[in-house]
Amino acid sequence: MDRHDFDIPITFKHRVIFTRDAFAADNSALANVLIEGGGRRVLVFIENTVAASWKNLPDHIQSYFEKLDFDFRGVKIFAGGEACKADENLVREVWREIDTSHIDRHSYVIAIGGGAFLDAVGYAVATAHRGLRLVRFPTTTLSQDDSGVGVKNAINAFGKKNWIGTFSVPFAVINDFKLLESQDPESSISGLIEAIKVALVKDGEFFQWIEANVTALSHLEREPFEECIKRSALLHARHIALGGDPFETGSSRPLDFGHWAAHKMEALTNYELSHAEAVAVGLALDTIYSQKIGFLSEENAERIINVLINLGLKTYHPALDWADAKGNRRVLAGLDEFREHLGGELTVLLLSDLGKGVDVHEFNTTILEQSIEQLREMWELAAH
Ligand SMILES: NC(=O)c1ccc[n+]([C@@H]2O[C@H](COP(=O)([O-])OP(=O)(O)OC[C@H]3O[C@@H](n4cnc5c(N)ncnc54)[C@H](O)[C@@H]3O)[C@@H](O)[C@H]2O)c1
Ligand SMILES: [Zn+2]
Repeated sequence: MDRHDFDIPITFKHRVIFTRDAFAADNSALANVLIEGGGRRVLVFIENTVAASWKNLPDHIQSYFEKLDFDFRGVKIFAGGEACKADENLVREVWREIDTSHIDRHSYVIAIGGGAFLDAVGYAVATAHRGLRLVRFPTTTLSQDDSGVGVKNAINAFGKKNWIGTFSVPFAVINDFKLLESQDPESSISGLIEAIKVALVKDGEFFQWIEANVTALSHLEREPFEECIKRSALLHARHIALGGDPFETGSSRPLDFGHWAAHKMEALTNYELSHAEAVAVGLALDTIYSQKIGFLSEENAERIINVLINLGLKTYHPALDWADAKGNRRVLAGLDEFREHLGGELTVLLLSDLGKGVDVHEFNTTILEQSIEQLREMWELAAH
């Protein structure tokens, strides 16, 4: 045997910038970060719904880069949403555009869209020439307060979410608050679920702030709304940069509270349930379960559920009760899929306090089913 182990030291810079109207002529936030990197060539991909809402955006982008003397290769518009992750079509289109525009590893690709669009374009960019510089512009609440600031990308395969993808640190993430204004109010609010999630597992004081501001948030008042997104984005980014496991090599998923059931419900409903809506239900389920197994006090569980309800989020969906031919709840298979996705032993984060998570490695199915029943009863009561 002749074995050689090498430690390969690599550090990444994760730049997260908050701004408004990034392509206004006098806004230098984006220019500064691109100039810092030294590249000059730029290709831009915009999700079609965003382009439809902001008709002048392509022109603004073009004049922004031309004024700065960048080698601007144009704006390409493609459909996004969960459907763009369903197959490889968008990925191939992005590869083709990158190739014909001669984008190299010193050039920049800018992607402007929701979390699904950024996931699919991000995967294409991470694999073209083994990885190009990606500047992400998340355009939904959820992607600005969570996925957009992350280091993952993916498309779906084999009926499973995010089966094909890479870990890849974007060159920069620009959270442009103005772009959020064209979302419908429901999505604007439901995306805050990831802020609630990260507050619950990392920062009890932030959860109390959300609780205290819940009415203003439910009315989408600009200042608390943007503050909430910013705090959440920074908690996520800090966790990735400083949490010791940016590429999730361990078995635990400390930011995925409420997600095992959410991912399964998204798949079960054929993605009619959005990620944000599914996480609200999954988070409610794991909150009630945390209480029933004695981790979380009844008072705290109630406070969490009340925040969800006061934001107008649903805490139950019939998919929780859908059964297979043997009469078993299909959502329960989500636990196994969650384990499989990471490998190793099942590790699910539950709550022991507001701001404090605790890993468990097994679930009591009876108590889980009782938790689902409780959520259904609460939902039925509220409906009548
Ligand atoms: N990579 C990660 O780490 C990570 C983490 C969490 C979630 N995700 C993924 O993110 C996706 C969900 O992202 P999402 O919640 O942003 O949903 P989404 O990307 O599906 O967008 C929701 C809808 O909003 C539209 N839209 C986007 N921006 C808009 C705007 N500014 N104005 C008007 N309409 C707009 C889209 O066209 C789409 O119809 C899921 O696929 C989820 O798996 C990825
Ligand atoms: Zn999520």
